[in-house]
Amino acid sequence: MPNAVVVGTQWGDEGKGKIVDLLTESFDVVVRYQGGNNAGHTVIIDGKKTVLHLIPSGILRSDKMCVIGNGVVIDPDALWGEIQGLGGVSLRDRLLVSNRAHLIMPYHKAIESAEETSRGAAKIGTTNRGIGPCYEDKIGRRGIRVGDLLQPSLFLSSLQSNLKIKNRILADLYGEDPLDEASIYSHYVELGKQLAPFIQDTVEYLSKACEDGKNILLEGAQGTLLDIDHGTYPFVTSSNASAGGACSGTGLGPASIHGVIGITKAYTTRVGSGPFPTELVDGIADHIRERGAEYGATTGRPRRCGWFDAVVGRYARLVNGLTTLVVTKLDCLDQLEEIKICTGYRDEGNLLKYFPTDMGILNKVEPVFETHPGWMEDTSSITCHGDLPEKAKAYLDRIATLVGTDISIISIGPDRQSTIVLEESPRLRDLIG
Ligand code: GDP
Ligand code: IMO
Ligand code: MG
Repeated sequence: MPNAVVVGTQWGDEGKGKIVDLLTESFDVVVRYQGGNNAGHTVIIDGKKTVLHLIPSGILRSDKMCVIGNGVVIDPDALWGEIQGLGGVSLRDRLLVSNRAHLIMPYHKAIESAEETSRGAAKIGTTNRGIGPCYEDKIGRRGIRVGDLLQPSLFLSSLQSNLKIKNRILADLYGEDPLDEASIYSHYVELGKQLAPFIQDTVEYLSKACEDGKNILLEGAQGTLLDIDHGTYPFVTSSNASAGGACSGTGLGPASIHGVIGITKAYTTRVGSGPFPTELVDGIADHIRERGAEYGATTGRPRRCGWFDAVVGRYARLVNGLTTLVVTKLDCLDQLEEIKICTGYRDEGNLLKYFPTDMGILNKVEPVFETHPGWMEDTSSITCHGDLPEKAKAYLDRIATLVGTDISIISIGPDRQSTIVLEESPRLRDLIG
């Protein structure tokens, strides 16, 4: 059975939650493979909105399994809060949490907050969820894992050796109050008891699921341009958000992944600091922000808005090996008389061949735009591709040509139903039957 990755092709918030919920109908298991509760994935079903931060966006379909993989970093408070917040949704035997996933500890959040403050104007603009410091400890081989919560004496000794260093960093480097060992210990051990029924070896579970012929959807968080290796470093998150992270973050081998579904907005947004070549700073940005309700699902921050960037799209196709593309939020452009697409970047008059790795260059490139006429029609209740305005179809065709993929799904509203699936797309058919 085919397994597929869903990945953001821009700077996050492309609508991955909505599309994962939609696609889950055709899969047995949905897995988050990286990131943590810096993610905010919105699912709207019959007008009822759910924002998921750690739990996979397949959880609202009651016959599907959801797995939080080893590559995710988990704030147990946030996870327990999310489990309880899902109230009516039955999670017993449907949600599995990897015992290898790393724990976000209170000192991760405290250090991140102090570090961001000390950066001043050069701050990353993180979500302050402790993501970066937690991944630092994982790579530094001093992290504490979810499975350790189930062994209180081991947990205590890891906590003690970490706190010895973290409290010195907090007090000596940043002038902050040290954190109290006893209260962290008792709180985390208590959370461990609550979460225990969900914790297990998910690598073993996923390989068995594959053997049993179940198909798996791997849900990326953030987006390609926020990837620690391939994104706009250092203005990135601390994990491999692109498709490559799906293998290391779950234990599935590359050969067991059969396709990569890239999600893009019909325009571009970014939250936090960092280069954004097609950013708009005029009334059109405000118009798109209001039409698209572009405020962070995790932090509530207004998102920066700009035109669709085909240089980013092409780069995302290469980095992820995209099989097909999903375009979301087309409806948010319905009232614009003119819509621009960035087809290339110029640096000191020269057209660049590749997406620049040097932030100095990316900060000063001039986007080359082509202008498309807007369709000036409401697309939000259209149900088939043929009924889209001709100018909207031409806009989408141009995106597909420039990125170099076919487009197999078009989203024209936040609700599950507001979606046009191009049934004839062979690449999507290969993945979802
Ligand atoms: P994610 O992080 O990629 O899952 O995306 P978010 O949930 O953070 O942000 C996407 C926002 O756009 C959410 O508020 C969605 O409800 C909304 N959304 C998704 N698709 C569409 C669409 O096609 N049209 C409109 N108007 N809103 C959409
Ligand atoms: P989803 O999954 C958009 C951004 C932050 C910041 C940078 C680093 O909903 O698409 P971090 O807290 O991860 O260390 O912050 O990454 N960022 C996101 N932007 N969507 C997200 O997730 C994001 N997760 C992190 O704003 O610029
Ligand atoms: Mg989001």
